[in-house]
Amino acid sequence: MKTLLSKEEIEQIVLELATRINNDYQNRKILAVGILKGSVIFLADLVRKLSMPIELDFIQVASYVGTKSSGEIKIIKDLSTDISSRDVLLVEDIIDTGRTLNLLKSELLKRHPQSLKVVALLDKPSRREVEFKADYVGREIPDEFVIGYGLDCDEKYRHLPYIAIIKSNT
Ligand code: IMP
Ligand code: MG
Repeated sequence: MKTLLSKEEIEQIVLELATRINNDYQNRKILAVGILKGSVIFLADLVRKLSMPIELDFIQVASYVGTKSSGEIKIIKDLSTDISSRDVLLVEDIIDTGRTLNLLKSELLKRHPQSLKVVALLDKPSRREVEFKADYVGREIPDEFVIGYGLDCDEKYRHLPYIAIIKSNT
């Protein structure tokens, strides 16, 4: 395993994202929606740096088995909040093929939020299979499988405080 982002580097990235989000939303109340399970650690750090009133909710979708994308998503655990007329900030760990966020965003837009923005800690733009652009991206990374800071490989390594490359795809 090779460290890609240290604990300190992640802290800096999260702070930069929070600063941009604080500026954009000013004091508007937001509903931060974490995509389970990968986003929980990022979400926990991010929301503690946001200064507007915040509510939290979570949604869980299935898309991955091991390190391979199945190409479809299914909502396993839905939101417990009615998002109509809410300012929703969807929080994701990493964007890969773009399928999860593409499908999830269109699903959530059907519920008529006031606004829906996406923040992703990491993005692998070279892996895109469907078009997707997040409103806020912490760091673009190359086509490598990464673990730690919420990200798993077969449910392991989520608790690591840093992000490391576990398998090279190139
Ligand atoms: P997408 O639908 O292909 O964009 O997949 C996004 C999801 O795949 C993320 O929410 C992660 O759970 C998972 N994923 C993609 N790349 C990685 C990685 O490098 N490490 C761990 N999980 C990943
Ligand atoms: Mg995930």
